[in-house]
Amino acid sequence: MAGAPDGYAAPMTPPPDTPADPPADTPADTPADGGSARPVLVVAGGTGLVGRRLVAATKDAWDVVVLTREVRGDEPDGARAVAWTPTAARDGDEAHLTGLAALLSGADVVVNLAGASIAGGRFDDAHKRRILDSRVDATTTLAAAVQRAERPPRTFFQTSASGIHGDRGDEVLNEASPPHPDDFLADVGVAWEDAARPIGDVTRLVIGRIGIVFAPEAKAWRQMLLPIRLFVGGPLGSGRQWWPWIHAEDLIRAMLFLVGPPGAPDPDALPPAGTYALTAPEPARQIDVARAAAKRLGRPAIVPAPAFALRLALGGLADHLLLSSTNLRPARLQAEGFRFRYRTIDDAAEALLSD
Ligand SMILES: NC(=O)c1ccc[n+]([C@@H]2O[C@H](COP(=O)([O-])OP(=O)(O)OC[C@H]3O[C@@H](n4cnc5c(N)ncnc54)[C@H](OP(=O)(O)O)[C@@H]3O)[C@@H](O)[C@H]2O)c1
Repeated sequence: MAGAPDGYAAPMTPPPDTPADPPADTPADTPADGGSARPVLVVAGGTGLVGRRLVAATKDAWDVVVLTREVRGDEPDGARAVAWTPTAARDGDEAHLTGLAALLSGADVVVNLAGASIAGGRFDDAHKRRILDSRVDATTTLAAAVQRAERPPRTFFQTSASGIHGDRGDEVLNEASPPHPDDFLADVGVAWEDAARPIGDVTRLVIGRIGIVFAPEAKAWRQMLLPIRLFVGGPLGSGRQWWPWIHAEDLIRAMLFLVGPPGAPDPDALPPAGTYALTAPEPARQIDVARAAAKRLGRPAIVPAPAFALRLALGGLADHLLLSSTNLRPARLQAEGFRFRYRTIDDAAEALLSD
């Protein structure tokens, strides 16, 4: 790539007391551009951890529309909330798809983050179905709308996850490594990315395989800290499994680097379309993540939690989220010139635990 500038994202910290715009009802009621001269960013599933940070980072330079299943009034400040039905394509709801297509026609960039939380329930068949269906349905609906759009957005950012690579021991992986066969989260990743693939026929499609996002407000980070704070932190299982983590601030910077600056950037100056690993350049073994946090908190990290006990307590989640080893490197992002602020887990832990 010809070197898209890093750091063109608007500041991370939103100005205080920015009121949210009044919510609207359906996509059809709400043309994305609303007559504004500012570029429009539509974020599906923008009410969660990543979406809130993305809105905070972009709302000063973009008109941001958040697609949510239900307008509840707690959408991120500075974004317009629009209700959508992620199952519209599966339901054959043509009216909804037409409305959504009109909304996306006015957008410069669409980011799809929608999907049921993986840690949001017992890891039984019903929850696994929800994890898979919510992602494939939402993506299929957005793909159908983009394909119907009179003027497709210039870039579509599709979320995927490092879990597509599965449990791979010490093998060094990057985005060119094939998905893992016979692994539930890998199957989800493949189906999710496949559902987005038709979007690449009509616009620039960027797929980001996101690692474990660490942020002070992230559930994964807080749950990891709890035993450490209580002096019972340490290795989970062997502790030698690689965690493909990323600091939330770097994740948002990387997403904006791939999406390109607001306005109409020269397409040749943007990173090429395709798939990118969005993880820190130095993945860490789980025990090193625990040690980095423990050091900062002035606690030990020596109390082991055996794999069988984690499986008893958490079922399949233990294997998929805690014990799985994915030594994934962001080779393509680095080759494109992206500069990380938090390269090592020690840097990240220091920043995350600075207050
Ligand atoms: N956080 C991580 O460590 C991590 C790691 C790898 C990949 N990812 C992926 O990155 C994306 C964003 O992550 P996040 O941490 O911001 O997730 P999140 O906090 O759980 O937010 C995801 C959003 O998806 C929407 N959603 C929930 N259930 C849904 C369903 N059944 N159908 C359609 N939409 C649904 C929700 O928005 P509404 O309720 O407003 O509709 C929610 O705010 C997710 O797809 C996640 O799998 C995250």
